Amino acid sequence: MGDLIKQALDMGWPALALLAGLLVYFQVSISDPAAKKRATFKTFIGMLATLMLFMAIANYKENFYGENRLLPVSLVMVTATTFMLALYFTNLGALLKIGGLMFFVAAFLSGYGNWLPQVEGGFPPKVEKLEYSGMTAQQLADEGEKIIFGGVGKNKEQGAIGKGQCPLCHAFHAGMLGERAPNLQGLPERAGKERLEDPKYSKGHPEKREYAQKEAFPGSGTAENGQEYIAESHACPNCYVVAGYGVKGTNDKESPMPSIHKPPISLSLDELAAVDTWLYVREGRDAPSFDEIVKSYEKFIPEADRPKKQEEKSGPPSALMADGTETVDQIFAKAQCVSCHTIPGIPGANGTIGPKLVEGTNAPTRIKDKDYKGTAKTTPDYIMESIVNPSAYVVKPFPDNTMPKVFGQKLSAGALKKIVDYLSQVYEGKEPPKIS
Ligand code: HEC
Ligand code: HEC
Repeated sequence: MGDLIKQALDMGWPALALLAGLLVYFQVSISDPAAKKRATFKTFIGMLATLMLFMAIANYKENFYGENRLLPVSLVMVTATTFMLALYFTNLGALLKIGGLMFFVAAFLSGYGNWLPQVEGGFPPKVEKLEYSGMTAQQLADEGEKIIFGGVGKNKEQGAIGKGQCPLCHAFHAGMLGERAPNLQGLPERAGKERLEDPKYSKGHPEKREYAQKEAFPGSGTAENGQEYIAESHACPNCYVVAGYGVKGTNDKESPMPSIHKPPISLSLDELAAVDTWLYVREGRDAPSFDEIVKSYEKFIPEADRPKKQEEKSGPPSALMADGTETVDQIFAKAQCVSCHTIPGIPGANGTIGPKLVEGTNAPTRIKDKDYKGTAKTTPDYIMESIVNPSAYVVKPFPDNTMPKVFGQKLSAGALKKIVDYLSQVYEGKEPPKIS
């Protein structure tokens, strides 16, 4: 609807401006208050009718080649417009009313005809196909926000997270603490300056780099501009590690960030372009074009490593992080539990953002805590509750709302069961259970 109004204004603004001018003119030139009121009212109605007319046209244009389901809406708008005009321009009234009636009949018939096939299943089901390359920067940015946060407008919501999983580690707004990863506010600005100019970045001389990886792939070279820096950061986190954020004990040589185009996150180049566009647009900056961004990724991701576009993937575009066919250590890794929690017996699970998950020992004491307000009576129930509804009980001294609240939806029942089974058997000071 907002979009329609915008398009209508794009097309109809000269007419509306004219009417607005008239409105002002009447205010000044008509002295009789009653006449003034009438004239003002009429022009106002005229403006409204004009806007609706242009909205109808915009709507018609938009859907002309589509399934035409919204065509009746256009016709109804035109009908209403004609009736409105007929009320106030009485000399033209009869003509306008007849015209309006005809539109109304047409609207009814086309509406009827349009809804009918749906009932009979005459149309093939519409496949949700996202063609990123044809989008405006704002549309692309919206898709990017969905990928990062799970929805448009969710970027300031605590715990909002999408398939890109970036908020697991990154903060995106100034002032928000990002102890695990750099705050991405201001990234477009610093990417091309501070970062590329950092001697450790070794722009143009990948062979001089002192990181776990010198280049994204042999011959890829280094970034030449800010967008390429961003692309390289996503494709090859180990090619350059922001000082202080490396994996503990590696002296900043290795990055804890996963390659975003690889499993489990596996964003396609199109999706990465959407993510990047959001990073620029939300700061009010002009983003490089879709093609430029995709090209910057092609520089650092060889053809064979590029994930297929969403619509080419087999099966439903499931947003599940793990479907339960994995082993439990894979599930912990895929869901990123390992970046926040230390989990005995699970390789790489040495996070310290949340408590050590010795739940065989912890769960009974949590349930007994006088501040415990949850509903669990047993260790498995407590673990399940902690995962699906982390705020039910907040382990001291950790802050609330740090643990994502999405796992109930992002993990299959099977995956949750494997987690619960495993964690119930982990006791402080005892040998961890076998991974099954
Ligand atoms: C598991 C944690 C983690 C996840 C998930 C993650 N990152 Fe990172 N990211 C990091 C860390 C740590 C660094 C700093 C070390 C480095 O330079 O690699 C970093 C660095 C970056 C940089 C370079 C920042 C700078 O200031 O130069 C960018 C850009 C970036 N990440 C974007 C993303 C995006 C976009 C996503 C989601 C699609 C994402 N990251 C997901 C941990 C993560
Ligand atoms: C972004 C960091 C983060 C991630 C990712 C994360 N957690 Fe947590 N988790 C926390 C924090 C912080 C707490 C403590 C605060 C609270 O209780 O909400 C916690 C608490 C818990 C508890 C309660 C522990 C206790 O001893 O009472 C369990 C169980 C748990 N997490 C399991 C998981 C599992 C399983 C995953 C992966 C599916 C996961 N967490 C992912 C941060 C995280």
